[in-house]
Amino acid sequence: MGKVVLISHPLIEHKLAIVRNKFTDTKTFRENVNEIGSLVTYEITRDLTTKDVKIETPIATTICQELAKEVVIVPILRAGLGMVDGIHNVIPTAKIGHIGLYRDETTLTPHAYYVKLPHILTEATILVVDPMLATGGSAVAAINLVKQQGGKDIRFVGLVGCPEGISVLQKHHPDVDIYLVAVDEKLNELGYIVPGLGDCGDRLFGTK
Ligand code: PRP
Ligand code: URA
Repeated sequence: MGKVVLISHPLIEHKLAIVRNKFTDTKTFRENVNEIGSLVTYEITRDLTTKDVKIETPIATTICQELAKEVVIVPILRAGLGMVDGIHNVIPTAKIGHIGLYRDETTLTPHAYYVKLPHILTEATILVVDPMLATGGSAVAAINLVKQQGGKDIRFVGLVGCPEGISVLQKHHPDVDIYLVAVDEKLNELGYIVPGLGDCGDRLFGTK
């Protein structure tokens, strides 16, 4: 069973309060989601393996460490885009894939409309990114697509989850660790996380 890591830090809590607040404007919302993306990156990459590399400093030759595997960031469109720059700022060598999914508003079933992933999935550590883990349908579908293209070492990175989404993701992908900033109480009858932060894609892009 994949572990659930709840990332806690005063700065993240502070920014999450801004993001949850319905009076926060689009620009501030986007900035804070992005900044949380940067802050969680230290935790989601804490156990990445490194390998020796010989470096010449201005004074002498020494052995340092560099990442042993490539990292691929895969945002689930649209909301996942909100965290990408923040993560990429910290791992600038990472490649970025994209998976476009939208939830049918009635059935809440995810539909894929775009998939473009780099050709290095088999050997890479893959961060599937979506701020919201609600029913879990989108995360499961995105990870299915990543696995179909060879992905093996996969982590799910989100902001706000709920028990329903976590258990669906763990059931379908027990090999995937789940990193979140908050686990909220429940889903409401419309499939929104309670208390949550509303529709993340709409709040990021000002579409409602
Ligand atoms: C939202 C969110 C997640 C998904 C999570 O996407 O960005 O991708 O819902 O819900 P789930 O866990 O129940 O699948 P939405 O379908 O609203 O698309 P958007 O990001 O383009 O607005
Ligand atoms: N998607 C969102 O953007 N928000 C939710 O609360 C649930 C799914």
